[in-house]
Amino acid sequence: MRKRSLSGIKPTGTIHIGNYFGAIKQFVDLQDNYDSYIFIADFHAITTVQNKEILSSNILNIAMDYLACGLDPEKVCLFKQSDLSEVTEIAWYFNCITTMPYLERATAYKDARVKAKDINVGLFDYPILMAADILIQDADIVPVGLDQKQHVEYARDIAIKFNNTFGQTFKLPEPLILKEVAIVPGTDGRKMSKNYGNTIPLFGTNEQIKKAVMGIVTDSKSPADPKDPEECNIYAIHKLFLKGDDLENLEKRYRDGGLGYKESKDMLYQEIISFIEPMRNKRNYYENHIDEVKEILKKGALKAKQNTSEKMKIIRNNVGVNL
Ligand code: ADP
Ligand code: TRP
Repeated sequence: MRKRSLSGIKPTGTIHIGNYFGAIKQFVDLQDNYDSYIFIADFHAITTVQNKEILSSNILNIAMDYLACGLDPEKVCLFKQSDLSEVTEIAWYFNCITTMPYLERATAYKDARVKAKDINVGLFDYPILMAADILIQDADIVPVGLDQKQHVEYARDIAIKFNNTFGQTFKLPEPLILKEVAIVPGTDGRKMSKNYGNTIPLFGTNEQIKKAVMGIVTDSKSPADPKDPEECNIYAIHKLFLKGDDLENLEKRYRDGGLGYKESKDMLYQEIISFIEPMRNKRNYYENHIDEVKEILKKGALKAKQNTSEKMKIIRNNVGVNL
């Protein structure tokens, strides 16, 4: 039996190259060897996106992004979280066995508190719903970027607590995090994130991509100066696109001097544009065939639901609500 992989992304905005290399690329690489479940975390998005036009357009966009990046609906069960509303039922069971201080230790919640925003209960409860997403499908591995590691650990802890309380029910999942892309840096050198305004959009227009690349923060060395590539934000992003000799040549040019930051940015821009060209074409296709996208999600939802019906019976039996 093949192992099961499951992951999801919130439809909260435009995806960037950090999402691609940190998460989506793994989803695509795993689809041949794992029983793969990939979903659109639209329930999670509602903690921040509270406008129906924006939410539904974000959902369709991320579905097209997934497909354009190479997820094959014949190999992967692609669905949206809200079509599997059983997860909210399970989240309730988990709520009842989880303590508030435990959730207060979650990094995402602590970050939100520092920003002193009004924090809704959904945001506080975020790790519980995510645990439900993962555990309902008996996932073996959860491919994510490093920032989601704690959430997967929460899912494990909650599975253990549930199993101890109600009897063996859930498998313990493992996060799958690739070291080289655990934290893709943004244009300012911090983790690339929608929240920091330091992203390079994966499916932006040429102008948007150019603007982001030209905005990468550098020091003030002149073109002639030798440079340490490992200290350069542009080089850190080149590393995602260049391999082998190409990367070595670039590294040498940095160390030798004579390569200016402007030239390095121009090269990076070209690398990104040629890399995304085939994906853009695929995305164009789906933009013109939205019904196909909706049909793929519908089929995926059916499979995800069928897959969990036995599990739901076991969960309800173990909790004691089945008579
Ligand atoms: P953002 O931080 O931009 O809001 P999300 O939280 O929506 O991104 O992340 C979606 C997926 O992409 C998650 O699996 C996350 O770990 C991964 N991811 C996001 N940003 C990065 C990054 N800079 N490097 C590696 N992975 C990332
Ligand atoms: N929390 C993830 C993110 O912010 C999205 C997500 C929701 C998820 N449920 C999940 C990821 C289950 C993996 C597995 O990106």
